[in-house]
Amino acid sequence: MSSVTGFFIPPVSYFGEGALIEAANYIQTKDFKKAIIITDPGIARIGLSGKVTKLLEDRGLSVAIYDQTQPNPNIGNVTAGLKVLKENNSDIVVSIGGGSAHDNAKAIALLATNGGEIGDYEGVNQSKLPALPLVAVNTTAGTASEMTRFTIISNEEKKVKMAIIDNNVTPSVAVNDPSAMYGLPPALTAATGLDALTHCIEAYVSTAASPITDCCALKGIDLIEESLAEAYKNGSDKKARTDMCYAEYLAGMAFNNASLGYVHAIAHQLGGFYHLPHGVCNAVLLPHVQSFNMKCEKTNKRLAEIATHLGEKEASADATIARLHRFNRDLNIPRNLKELGVKEEDFEILAENAMQDACHLTNPIQFKKEEVIAIIRQAFEY
Ligand SMILES: NC(=O)c1ccc[n+]([C@@H]2O[C@H](COP(=O)([O-])OP(=O)(O)OC[C@H]3O[C@@H](n4cnc5c(N)ncnc54)[C@H](O)[C@@H]3O)[C@@H](O)[C@H]2O)c1
Ligand SMILES: [Fe+2]
Repeated sequence: MSSVTGFFIPPVSYFGEGALIEAANYIQTKDFKKAIIITDPGIARIGLSGKVTKLLEDRGLSVAIYDQTQPNPNIGNVTAGLKVLKENNSDIVVSIGGGSAHDNAKAIALLATNGGEIGDYEGVNQSKLPALPLVAVNTTAGTASEMTRFTIISNEEKKVKMAIIDNNVTPSVAVNDPSAMYGLPPALTAATGLDALTHCIEAYVSTAASPITDCCALKGIDLIEESLAEAYKNGSDKKARTDMCYAEYLAGMAFNNASLGYVHAIAHQLGGFYHLPHGVCNAVLLPHVQSFNMKCEKTNKRLAEIATHLGEKEASADATIARLHRFNRDLNIPRNLKELGVKEEDFEILAENAMQDACHLTNPIQFKKEEVIAIIRQAFEY
């Protein structure tokens, strides 16, 4: 393996209340004329895409909109959004939402300049040209998709999620304004917050972790420990929401560069196969995958370090895993994969597909198929 590490983040990011207006001002300073907003029906319903439309129109841009992105966005969403972009000759893409809206927008922006189909870009750095500029306005905390070089698109026919990992899909501007998150319901706050925690932990035990990603991951865990329960209880708590914006972005800095592990490799299959929410799948799988990862001595030590960042007195891997289960219970995450409707007869294909997912490559242990099935079984029966 090469000893060179890269570090990739968007060139510009804004945080804090008012970040959305700051981003609109930034767009105005560039020579864009025609924006396309990529969002989903939920965001349209709460009026957030309308608000951004007005901010952009007030600054002299024309605005087209595609607001039909589904959770776990699929090829059909990419094709439909790209059609609207082409019809309007858009020169800048603005995504508003959680990971689904951003991932759809990234795929659309990439195809707008590179052509072809999104499946052509599965894998690492398969595109030749920069995507159209993308300003990603985040509303969940979160996937960190507003700042990563990952885009995850479901192939609805094959029932699998494709991972496109490409520097060219990194957004030009990432926006984390807590005021866009005050209305995020508790269940979504929990699921997306535990997704961020999974990013921190998988990046911290990743074989590609570096001192920089370690710092990001541990600080992210500290902030999540401090604020996720509060954001869950009281969605309009400004401090808790602001902390979670920073936490999810730090988590993104960590996994965008150290990558992930078997939690995400398996969760992607559950999303593709049963359309289950990404954060919930991660939360359920996280303690089980780490209990298998504990068998690696170095990872055991790292998991023990995490315990104190999660507020545990005892610095042990067991304490971390117990805390992760408690986190799930406190935030009303379903107990196991059985409750999520996963079927025993699918274990084999889920494990096979997880082993094809690029995210597992940096897991501290490369498991055999039987071991992946054993993890799924443990998370099913727990
Ligand atoms: N590209 C990446 O780096 C990356 C990383 C992790 C996950 N993902 C992907 O992200 C997707 C999941 O994204 P997500 O968990 O952010 O959820 P999501 O984007 O699918 O949104 C879930 C629901 O929450 C609603 N919502 C979002 N923000 C809201 C707000 N502020 N108020 C009220 N409702 C709101 C949406 O309308 C939607 O109905 C999955 O497809 C996953 O694979 C991508
Ligand atoms: Fe994730």
